[in-house]
Amino acid sequence: MLEPERIVRLEDAAVVVLDQRCLPDEEVDLVCRSSAEVAEAIRTLAVRGAPAIGIAAAYGYALAARTGEDLDAATATLAASRPTAVNLSWALGEMRRWEGDPAERARQIHADEVERCRAMSGHAATLLQPGTRALTHCNAGGLATGGYGTAVGALRAAWEQGLLEHVLVDETRPLLQGARLTAWELEEAGIPHTVIADSAAGLMMASGEVDAVLTGADRIAANGDTANKIGTYTLAVLAAHHGISFYVVAPSSTVDLATPSGEGIPIEERAGEELTARFAARNPAFDVTPADLIAAIVTEHGVHCAPYADSLAAAVEV
Ligand code: MRU
Repeated sequence: MLEPERIVRLEDAAVVVLDQRCLPDEEVDLVCRSSAEVAEAIRTLAVRGAPAIGIAAAYGYALAARTGEDLDAATATLAASRPTAVNLSWALGEMRRWEGDPAERARQIHADEVERCRAMSGHAATLLQPGTRALTHCNAGGLATGGYGTAVGALRAAWEQGLLEHVLVDETRPLLQGARLTAWELEEAGIPHTVIADSAAGLMMASGEVDAVLTGADRIAANGDTANKIGTYTLAVLAAHHGISFYVVAPSSTVDLATPSGEGIPIEERAGEELTARFAARNPAFDVTPADLIAAIVTEHGVHCAPYADSLAAAVEV
């Protein structure tokens, strides 16, 4: 497993991220020397995944404080880098409230996120039966969280407990976070896996090759509606049709009590060129899975079942 500081860290005059655009072919460090450069690394997906975005923004803020940038401007630039993952504004809010050394708070946010991942992964593994063949989408592993992972963390924990047989990995069009990043992380962990085209998931479910679907989340509304990588909603509908449990694994920093339902979640629309440089294209990067398609939401505090409102609120207010 990659060490947390290998994924993202604060140095004396820079935030350094492992450039996820180059993986799995090359391990390249991207050195960001200002909050604007950190924001650009987030916007261009050099660092990505909801908790990792929040951690990078916290380090970006700490860098800005250290180098004497205008902190209101730095906050605004970082906050505008991506719209859907609420961890970004959550982490910046934590940094703004902190009255001590910003670097210390940013490192604490990072350590806490990794700890949350370990806790939720243990809880999520209790939902799986021995011999589970799981399916996952996008990358909700160590890379996306600054270490260990949410949905992939749960698969890691299940594997260590002898509960997991195999993982189907959606390639996750258009930027292939599954085929590049999740497959790489599972390979490193020695977990048996196979990459499939996103559109093959229905066939796999219909032919009885999927026992459970586990994904991460970018924002969970107060009622449990959940935004995650585009294609997640499709999977949840397919899972419901085939009677397969669909689980969301995410930290409390991804729960947004200020957004009552999925309708209020901003959906990032990325450049059409990520799909095709020749034709007109639409490229929504996330979709919203309604709470009633989710069998359980797992946070570091445990397994939450419908109705989610009270139990998620309690998890955030702990
Ligand atoms: O566009 P990305 O790669 O940042 O999207 C990431 C996802 O959708 C992840 O599933 C989500 O952030 C959960 S990460 C633990």
